[in-house]
Amino acid sequence: MPRKDFHHSSEGPRTGHFGEVALPAAPSPAPAGCWHEWPADLAAYLAPEGREEDLAVELGPILARHGRLFVTQGPVREPAWVANIWRSPHLVSVSSISDAAGALRRLQRNWAPYPVHLHRRTELVREKLPHVSARPLRFPEPAPTSALGSFTLLDASTLLVSQDCSSPFPNGEVAFVEDHENPPSRAYLKLWETLTRLGTTPEPGAHCFDLGASPGGWTWVLQGLGCTVTAVDKAPLATQVASLPNVDILPESAFSLSAEALSGADWIFSDVICYPARLLKLVERLLASGVTAKFVCTVKFQGETDHETARRFAAIPGSRLFHLHHNKHELTWVRLLGVGGR
Ligand SMILES: C[S@@+](CC[C@H](N)C(=O)[O-])C[C@H]1O[C@@H](n2cnc3c(N)ncnc32)[C@H](O)[C@@H]1O
Repeated sequence: MPRKDFHHSSEGPRTGHFGEVALPAAPSPAPAGCWHEWPADLAAYLAPEGREEDLAVELGPILARHGRLFVTQGPVREPAWVANIWRSPHLVSVSSISDAAGALRRLQRNWAPYPVHLHRRTELVREKLPHVSARPLRFPEPAPTSALGSFTLLDASTLLVSQDCSSPFPNGEVAFVEDHENPPSRAYLKLWETLTRLGTTPEPGAHCFDLGASPGGWTWVLQGLGCTVTAVDKAPLATQVASLPNVDILPESAFSLSAEALSGADWIFSDVICYPARLLKLVERLLASGVTAKFVCTVKFQGETDHETARRFAAIPGSRLFHLHHNKHELTWVRLLGVGGR
C-alpha cells in the first residue's frame, strides 16, 4: 500500500507518516510522493462513519487519507458529507506521551482525539490533557461555544492537530439526554440535532407543517416547543402525539399540497421517505410559488448517493446542506431565509 510522508521544513525536517492513501472508489486517487514543504493551505475533513466514499466524491483530489480523515489543499470548503472540518491542520513532532500532551496544552485547553491506530497511546495522551466534558446535551440547551481542537497520532512521534474545527463536539458526535418515554420514534434526535446546530428553534405559536410526520417524533418536538403543528401523513400518528393540543392531522400526500395550503406556514419540516429528486421538485415548486416558510428537510438516499440532486439542494440560495451525527444515508437541507432574504 503506498504511504505518504510529510516533511515539515520550518523547524528542520519533520516526518509524519500518513496511513494508507488508497480510497475506495475515489474519483481522484491521491498522488504518490512526498512534500519537502508543508503546504500552507491545507484542510482536513472527517467523514461520517460509513460515508467516506460520499465525502471523497465531494472533495475530489486529496493529498492523503488517515482513517476517515481526508487532507486536501486549497481553500476550505463546506462539503455536505462531513462530520468535522479541521482548518489549518499542522504537524507537531513529539518525543513522548507527556511531550505530546504538553505540546497540545501549550496550544489551547480543549482537545478531542481522533484515534485511527495507536489507540492506547492516544488514550494516554488524552488522560494528560485537561478534562473535556462529554456530558450529553439537554435539548434545547445550546451547543458548547468553547474552542475544541482535534488531534490524531500519525505515528508515535507525530501529531496532526487542528485548533480550528467546525464542530464543537468531539469528532462531530452530538449526544443528547434521550427521552425514552414520550417520543414514538428515535427520529426526534435528528430534529433536536438540527435545531441545536442551527442555534434556533421555532417560536412558540409558530405554525409548522410536518410532512411525513408518522409516527410523530418531529411533531412531538415541535408541539413541545409551543408550536401549532399540522402533521401530514397517510400513516397514523402515535396516539400519545395525535392527542396533544395544537396538533392537527392531515392524512394526505405531501406532494399533493398546494402552495396556497402551505402559505400560512412559518416552518415546513419534511422527513418524507421519497427519492431526493421528488423532494427537490416539491421544494422548488413551493419556493417558486412564493412560500416564505423556513425549511428543514431530510434528503434520503437509497442505494447509490444521488450527488447531482444533493448539489442542486446545496445550490438553492440561502440554504445549507449537511450531515447530522443522527443521519444515516441522509442529508439535512435547511433554508432559514424567506423570499427576498427575509
Ligand atoms: C421516517 S418516517 C418519518 C418519521 C417522523 N419524522 C418521526 O419523527 O416520527 C417517514 C414517513 O414518511 C411518510 N411518507 C411517505 N410518503 C409520503 C407522502 N407522499 N406524503 C406524506 N408522508 C409520506 C411515511 O408514511 C412515513 O411515516
